[in-house]
Amino acid sequence: MARKYFIAGNWKMNKTAAEATALIDAIKAKIGTQTKVDVAVCPTFTALDAASKALKGSTIKLGAQNVYVKPSGAYTGEISADMLKEFCCEYVILGHSERREYFKECNCFVNEKVKVVLANGMKPILCVGEKLEEREAGKTIDVVSQQVLKGLEGVSKDDAKNVVVAYEPVWAIGTGKTATPEMAQEVHAQIRKNLAELFGAETAEDMQILYGGSMKPENAKDLLAQKDIDGGLIGGAALKADSFVALVEIAQNA
Ligand code: PGA
Repeated sequence: MARKYFIAGNWKMNKTAAEATALIDAIKAKIGTQTKVDVAVCPTFTALDAASKALKGSTIKLGAQNVYVKPSGAYTGEISADMLKEFCCEYVILGHSERREYFKECNCFVNEKVKVVLANGMKPILCVGEKLEEREAGKTIDVVSQQVLKGLEGVSKDDAKNVVVAYEPVWAIGTGKTATPEMAQEVHAQIRKNLAELFGAETAEDMQILYGGSMKPENAKDLLAQKDIDGGLIGGAALKADSFVALVEIAQNA
C-alpha cells in the first residue's frame, strides 16, 4: 500500500470559534473536496464545535490537541475521549513537545493517552523530537527511539495502522529553523525502524511519519521528497489559509 501524504494543522492556542470558522471556510473553498492528500485541522477545544460544523461536507478531518486518560469524573479542567468524539474528531495530537516541556508529560503518560485514543476509535498523532542540547550531545536517535518505543508500548499491530508519528525537532518548532531534508530523513528512517521493531516491517511501511518544525511552502517540497517523510504537522503556517492550502497543493504534487 502506497502511503498517502498527510498535512495536519496544529493551531495550538490560537483562533476563537469564530476565527476557526473563517479559516476553515477559506481553506475549504480551495481544497475542501480533494482526496489525494489526507488533510486535518486541529483547533483548540473551545473551537471544536464550530470547526466540526464548518468542516461538514468537506474531506478535511478534525483533530484535537490533547485528551485526558479517564473517561469521566473529578478531573477539573480535563477533556475526555467521549467529549472529543461528540465533535467527530478523528485525530488527537499527543505528546507534543510543548506539553512535554510546559505540562511535564512523560513517555509513560503519553503512552496511556495513545492507548485511550485508539480504544476510542480515534487516531493518535504521536509527537517525538529531540531538544537542541540532545542533538548537540549526539543523543537524537536515542531520545527519539525511546519516545517512539515507549509511546507505543502495548499497542497492537492492528491498532498501529491508525497511529501517525510526527517527528518534530524541538529546536525547529516556531523558530524558523528547519531540519535539512537529510537530517529529517535520517531520523524518519530510524523511526520507521522502531515501528518495524514494534509492529513488523510491513505495518511500518504503511504508517505515516510526518515532519514538523517551521515547515512552510518554501521548504516543503524538499522535505516531502524524502523517502520516509509522509507529510507535515504544521504550526505557524497552518494559521493562514494561503500557506496551509499551498502546503496541501505541494503534497498533492510531491
Ligand atoms: P511550527 O510548529 O510549524 O510553528 O514550527 C509545528 C508544531 O509545533 O507542531
